[in-house]
Amino acid sequence: MINKMGLHEDIAYVLVSEEELKKKVKEIGALLTEEYRGKNPIFVCVMKGSVHFFSDLVREFDDYCEIDFLSSSSYGDGTEHTGIVRINKDLDMSITGRHVIIVEDIMDSGLTLNHLTGMLNARKPASIKIVTLLDKPARRRCAINPDYYGFVVPDEFVVGYGLDYAQAYRNLPFVGVLKEEVHGIKK
Ligand code: IMP
Ligand code: MG
Repeated sequence: MINKMGLHEDIAYVLVSEEELKKKVKEIGALLTEEYRGKNPIFVCVMKGSVHFFSDLVREFDDYCEIDFLSSSSYGDGTEHTGIVRINKDLDMSITGRHVIIVEDIMDSGLTLNHLTGMLNARKPASIKIVTLLDKPARRRCAINPDYYGFVVPDEFVVGYGLDYAQAYRNLPFVGVLKEEVHGIKK
């Protein structure tokens, strides 16, 4: 890191507050409860970024469901997609014939979810849908879009509520924009 000033001092401004996050997660949880009632879906947490969103969202889902975890990485410590998606931890469960809801923190280039949906579709689930907390459509590099999203965000590097820069800031309770002097990327 170039110039760390303190956990909160490193943030330029809050983009989505704790209250806004809470309200939106409730809304999405209610929509998913309607859509998946009686279907016993499997919620897939894409670690580590979606950890808070995932745990808040499944608690707003008001019917039977199961959960599983998947870990992929693509970023190294920079802010640009490397184009390589690596699976660090695969699902424990079989998803064949099951309804799968992938829960992601942010869709940026879309390369990660493009790769993950391709891999999971090969296992013949009954359905796959994508829920992302944040969507950054300005940077999409493939034809994939979320089925549900919380907030559209501008082309800024955001952290907090699970999202990191070089593994830091995941513990912030809100989503904020990181100061340029911290990540050192000039636009
Ligand atoms: P994609 O494959 O380019 O869509 O990127 C997906 C992954 O990149 C996300 O799950 C995040 O882990 C990471 N990512 C993309 N944009 C940001 C950002 O603004 N802040 C933090 N992580 C990000
Ligand atoms: Mg992620």
